[in-house]
Amino acid sequence: MEKLVIEGGKKLQGEVKISGAKNAVLPIMAATLLTDETCTIHNVPKLRDTMTMAKLLRSLGKNVDIEKDCVTVSSKGEISYLADYKLVSTMRGSFCVLGPLLAKLGIAKVSLPGGCIIGVRPVDLHIKGIQALGAKIHFEGGYVIAQSKKLQGTHIYLGGVSGSSVLATANVMMAATLAAGETIIESAACEPEVEDLANFLIEMGARIKGHGSPQIVISGVKKLHGADYKVIPDRIEAGTFILMAAAMRSNIVLRDVRYNHLSALVDKLEEAGVKVIKEHNMIRVKTNKTIKPVSVTMLPYPGFPTDLQAQFMAVMAMTPGISVITDKIYPDRFMHIAELNRMGADIRREGSSAIVQGTKAIYGAPVMASDLRASAALLIAGLAAEGTTEIHRIYHLDRGYEAIDEKLAKLGAKVSREKE
Ligand code: UD1
Repeated sequence: MEKLVIEGGKKLQGEVKISGAKNAVLPIMAATLLTDETCTIHNVPKLRDTMTMAKLLRSLGKNVDIEKDCVTVSSKGEISYLADYKLVSTMRGSFCVLGPLLAKLGIAKVSLPGGCIIGVRPVDLHIKGIQALGAKIHFEGGYVIAQSKKLQGTHIYLGGVSGSSVLATANVMMAATLAAGETIIESAACEPEVEDLANFLIEMGARIKGHGSPQIVISGVKKLHGADYKVIPDRIEAGTFILMAAAMRSNIVLRDVRYNHLSALVDKLEEAGVKVIKEHNMIRVKTNKTIKPVSVTMLPYPGFPTDLQAQFMAVMAMTPGISVITDKIYPDRFMHIAELNRMGADIRREGSSAIVQGTKAIYGAPVMASDLRASAALLIAGLAAEGTTEIHRIYHLDRGYEAIDEKLAKLGAKVSREKE
């Protein structure tokens, strides 16, 4: 195992290149199961999660070649319908092979992903949508088995208690591409990653309209073909670097990034006094010496992303004054509070909210990463802290941030990766 050692207090400056979006790549890789032809995907970040998806596709019988940021998925015969527990349980994104396997083979047996540290994370909406398309579902030994000779297009309402679901929308949309007739998904997730998946499916010959809005209309086709596609930039990685600059009161430039995917964050940061300026496909962050505390609630896109909640909290923890951070998507996603408090933060949880009493004095400490975005919050705190911070279990960070230590070193941070 490895740890990250950070010497706090070094201002950031210069440029950072943003990688391809992890949460777009995972379903796009799963979508290659819908065709026997070859698909080439560009701008794929080298992450533990993308490697896990490559392993899963190989275990299902696909060839997966990885060359720098380009992944080529091709066929070597019939694929298997069984997605194994070992691979699906390590990464929830794996569950989105359900829709493509069912649509392509008429049967899919996929391990249930289970809960994780950020909450219960049910899959009822995935099942509801797949069932609505006419599949018979049963559960056996921790697996969901879905069967249908021919899926049938239909009208589906896919909203849940916390609003839309990103991966349920992805699963149902992928299944519907090969269903007979028209499928209308209401309360579909509007996240850019869902839109990107739809654009990839269209490149494969799917007929989809309304992606990026709460109503997606899919007209089933008989067959999908190969595609060559470039994935969108990762808005969560971009948001994390912007928040790092805010925490360090630094000015940096982000390259290869989509400003319009970051509206909610930009809005909140402007309220706090941080300037986030669009320049072609770049973003310039300009931070004053002092910033103001602001409150924010996590909501489905275009609302403030839950995947930036922990990082935003780290910045507010170092901003004198009170802010309230509420997560309506994952009301239990607060594992980082205890670790941030060990670094001198003053944060109290109340139900689905955190009350942050900002302080100037954050200091370095050994801390434990509990999940991907919580690790990023600890990294932000470590960069701004007085003294040295050691983040243990950084494999969480490597699930979602490509070469984060190298990118930070280029920006002037003192960060090193060491063996435990
Ligand atoms: C995706 C992202 C994850 C992000 C999340 C919310 C990937 C690989 N992961 O996860 O990084 O934090 O979106 O933006 O893209 N829900 C149900 N029933 C379901 C499915 C979800 O009630 O069947 C609930 C969840 O518990 C949660 C909310 O819906 O409260 C949103 O979750 P969802 O959008 O499904 O998250 P994921 O797609 O799993």
